[in-house]
Amino acid sequence: MDIPTLHHFSFPTAIRFGAGARWQVAGHLAQQGLKRPLVVTDRGLSALPMLAEFTAHLQTLDVAVFDGVFGNPSCAQVMDGAAAFKAHGADCVIGFGGGAALDVAKVVGVAATHEGDILEYVWDHPGVRPIAGALPYFVALPTTAGTGSEVGRSSVLSENHSRLKRVVFSPRILARMVFADPELTESLPPAITAATGIDALTHNIESYLSRAYHPLCDGIALEGARIAAGALEIAVKDGGNARARSDMMMASMMGAIAFQKDLGAVHACAHALGAVCNLHHGLANALMIDTVLAWNFEAVPGRFHELARVCQVEGGGAAFAPWLKALKQRIGIPGTLAAHGVTADRIAQLAEVAQADICHLTNPRPCSATDFEQLFRSAL
Ligand SMILES: NC(=O)c1ccc[n+]([C@@H]2O[C@H](COP(=O)([O-])OP(=O)(O)OC[C@H]3O[C@@H](n4cnc5c(N)ncnc54)[C@H](O)[C@@H]3O)[C@@H](O)[C@H]2O)c1
Ligand SMILES: [Zn+2]
Repeated sequence: MDIPTLHHFSFPTAIRFGAGARWQVAGHLAQQGLKRPLVVTDRGLSALPMLAEFTAHLQTLDVAVFDGVFGNPSCAQVMDGAAAFKAHGADCVIGFGGGAALDVAKVVGVAATHEGDILEYVWDHPGVRPIAGALPYFVALPTTAGTGSEVGRSSVLSENHSRLKRVVFSPRILARMVFADPELTESLPPAITAATGIDALTHNIESYLSRAYHPLCDGIALEGARIAAGALEIAVKDGGNARARSDMMMASMMGAIAFQKDLGAVHACAHALGAVCNLHHGLANALMIDTVLAWNFEAVPGRFHELARVCQVEGGGAAFAPWLKALKQRIGIPGTLAAHGVTADRIAQLAEVAQADICHLTNPRPCSATDFEQLFRSAL
C-alpha cells in the first residue's frame, strides 16, 4: 500500500442521536434565530403521518414543505426545490427523508443562492462553478438507515435525461446539525429496511476493503460492519425493535463517515444499475455485493478475515461473501439481477458505466471493463 506523506482527516458533523431527537429541531432553529424553514422531503413520505407530526412540531416557525423528490433524484428536482425555497422566502433547509431527499436537501440551498444549474456544481463538470457564497443553514433528519447521507459531503444526483449519477462534493454542503432519530425508521417496510440496510453494511465493508490509507475510517468501518451485521436481520423481521433500529441508524452513519476513505467496485456496479436500469441504490448494492466480494477475496484475504471475525462469520475470510449471500436471502432480497428486470443485452452498457465510475479505482482488485462484464453476468 502506498502511504503518501500528508493526509487530511476530518469528522466534523454535530449529531444528536437517539429516540425523540426530532423534537429538538424547532428549538434548535429558533436558537439560531431562524424563522422560515423549508422542509425538503420525498413524495412517499409526504403522505405519511410522520411528516405531518414533524411539521406540527415546527408550528412556532413559518414552515413550508417541498415534497418533489422521488426515485433516484435528478438535478431538475433540486432546481424545483430551489424555486420553492425562494418562493417561501426561506432562511434554512430541513432535509427529512432517505438518501434521495437528503441529497436534494443538501444542495437546494446552493441552487437557491448561486447562479446556474446545480449540474454546474458537480465536481467533474468541465466548467465547475465554486460554491463560494453564503449558504442557508441546513439540518438533516434521516428516515432510512442506509446511505448515511446526513453525515456526508456528497449529493448524488442523476442527470435529467441520461440519468447518469453525478456528484456535488463539498464540505460546505455538510449538515450543520444532524438529528438522527431511529424512531423515524420504524415505519420502513421490510423490503426498504433490507435494501437500505445492505447499503449501510456495504459502505462499511467496501470502505474497509478499499486500498486507500485511512486507519481512522478503517476502525469506524469495522465497528460499523459489526453493528450492522448484528442488527440488520432483526430490523427487517421486527421493524418495531428499537434496539435494532437504533443500531442500524448508527451503522448507517458510521458507513458514510467511513467511506470518506473510499468505496469500491460494488458501488461502481450499483451506480451503473441505478443509471441504466433505474434500480434503487441499496437494492443494486445488495444484488452485486456477494458476487463482487467473492471476486475481491484473493486481493485482500487478511481484510476479509478481519471482517468475518468482527461479524462473527464462521469459516474465516473465504466464508464472508457466502455469508452475505445467505443474509440477503434471509432478509428477502431475491438473488439475481434478472429477478429485477435486468436483461443480458444491458450488460455491455452496464460495464461501460461502471468502468467510468471512480468508485472502483480504490477497489482492492483492479477492475477492467471485461471484469465488470463478467461480474454483471455472474450476478444476472
Ligand atoms: N450522499 C451520499 O453519500 C449517498 C450515498 C449512498 C446513496 N446515496 C443516494 O441515496 C439515494 C437512496 O437513498 P435511500 O436508500 O435512503 O432511499 P430513498 O431515499 O430513495 O427512499 C426509498 C423509499 O423509502 C421511502 N421512505 C423513506 N423513509 C421512510 C420511512 N421512514 N417510512 C416509510 N417509507 C420511507 C421513500 O419514500 C422512498 O420511496 C439514492 O439516490 C443514492 O444515490 C447517497
Ligand atoms: Zn451506497
